[in-house]
Amino acid sequence: MNIRQFLSEKVKAAMIAAGLPEDTNPAVSLSSRPEFGDYQANGVMGAAKKLKTNPRELATKVVEQLDLSGIADNIELAGPGFINIKLANSWLADQLAKTGQDAKLGVSQREKPQTVVVDYSAPNLAKEMHVGHLRSTIIGDAVVRALEFRGDKVIRQNHMGDWGTQFGMLLAHLSDKLAANEVAETALSDLENFYREAKVRFDDEEGFADRAREYVVKLQSGDKACAALWQQFIDISIAHSEEIYQLLNVTLTRDDIMGESSYNHDLANVISELEAKGLAVEDQGAKVVFIDEMANKDGEPSVFIVQKSGGGYLYATTDLSACRYRSGELNADRIIIFTDARQALHFKQVEIVARKAGFLPEHVEYHHCPFGMMMGDDGKPFKTRTGGTVKLAELLHEAVSRAGDLIKEKNPDYSDEQLKEIAEKVGIGAVKFADLSKNRTSDYVFNWKTMLSFEGATAPYLQYGYARIQSIFTKAGIDSDSLSSEITIAEPQEKALALKLLQLEDVLDAVIAEGTPNLLCNYLYELASLYMSFYEACPILKEGIADEVKQSRLALCKQISATLKQGLDILGIEVMERM
Ligand code: ARG
Repeated sequence: MNIRQFLSEKVKAAMIAAGLPEDTNPAVSLSSRPEFGDYQANGVMGAAKKLKTNPRELATKVVEQLDLSGIADNIELAGPGFINIKLANSWLADQLAKTGQDAKLGVSQREKPQTVVVDYSAPNLAKEMHVGHLRSTIIGDAVVRALEFRGDKVIRQNHMGDWGTQFGMLLAHLSDKLAANEVAETALSDLENFYREAKVRFDDEEGFADRAREYVVKLQSGDKACAALWQQFIDISIAHSEEIYQLLNVTLTRDDIMGESSYNHDLANVISELEAKGLAVEDQGAKVVFIDEMANKDGEPSVFIVQKSGGGYLYATTDLSACRYRSGELNADRIIIFTDARQALHFKQVEIVARKAGFLPEHVEYHHCPFGMMMGDDGKPFKTRTGGTVKLAELLHEAVSRAGDLIKEKNPDYSDEQLKEIAEKVGIGAVKFADLSKNRTSDYVFNWKTMLSFEGATAPYLQYGYARIQSIFTKAGIDSDSLSSEITIAEPQEKALALKLLQLEDVLDAVIAEGTPNLLCNYLYELASLYMSFYEACPILKEGIADEVKQSRLALCKQISATLKQGLDILGIEVMERM
């Protein structure tokens, strides 16, 4: 159920009946203030302007045509031509009765599902995953889950950085370690260290850089022994990422990996096609595409290098190949890519070139969703105290341990096992929610205290809200599954909740369209806050409450808890019955 869309159709029909053209836009939205009703339609103003007629008169005609009997209590004309709609409690209750019985909470399934390729996480395997990949991983995963919940077909693509010249020095270093009888897993237990060691040798050790270069050549020419060594490195590094995925409760698996190396066989073709189409040309030994569409203010085109002067390919070349693979082989209707904002220019160039080359047909949407950086308290990019990159694994373990301390303080009687489970859900949930709830494109300050607070828009607040509802069912001695979904709406707090519950589909659609899970975070926070006000104002189990009222309020609680749980699940955050 999407009330906004439902009302849009009604108002649009009325506008057409009042003589407006078929493509008229009713512009229905939630009312900005309660005195303007629940929803408002503002489309008449625009239509009147186009027709050069009086908006108020036109709005009067539209209202005459607008039949919302049984749906709205009141339709009011306001100002120069706003139409304010106040929905009827009985109609809202009927909608809730339906959504309450639906496993998808009334979120309808897409009639024409799209095939959506989502490119997210994509760590570089030469190094440990760091906080920059946290954002890509969890934002991407939330959008993926929202798409799937809505009924689209999602193909996850983990475009891991598993190729490139830096593997030369890494493999040379690894082969020395293995020759000295070290076990690969041990040698690579700390990738950051390993990388640093290899780099020091590359810079300082006589002859090592040459060996590193030889390894690059061997790797690229498909030398068997070298490929096996590379595979060993990659497998161990992937296992590190997988530990994090598990900790983070994200849905990525090994099958979703389509690293840069997977495009290797196609890169020469990409270049020759670009040349054949007259797009790539030689420039100082390299092959480049000049992009006039992105010329600077002096009219100089933007330069997109697709092959280095030594013949090596680049990140850009793999992304062009990926465009072709995703639209041609995977039949994507839409491609969404989550990386930090510093890559915005790169993806703009990729899109323009891929479209011209025919790698990305017109009907395939290409959507790069950039995100801002995670900052420390000092307002600078988030780093360790000594200025190093923060390892994601360490950050997540710290979150769990901090959450554990908090929970223990609140509930000293929990067993270690209970404590561990709750601490994991709360700690990881807190980190994820803090990140997901921020406007995607802005930088944000990472702060343990606010994210783990039980007040405000945090995971613990929402998880606590959920647990509180479960405790009501326990207190009432009922199994919530046995409750009917019949709800009577009488109090304003009940109506506010009904309206909010029925907005889920609308919110998910916005999340999907823009790649913005923060909208779902806001929604859930508002829902939980409305629940708290309802709980204060509308007693449920108090003595003297009529049984029908009690049943209705319990049924409302049930829908709120189902929606909180489902919404958090889309964000990849778990709930618990008690906390
Ligand atoms: N590995 C890259 C990085 O860490 C992100 C890859 C994103 N996807 C892509 N198709 N380029 O920055």
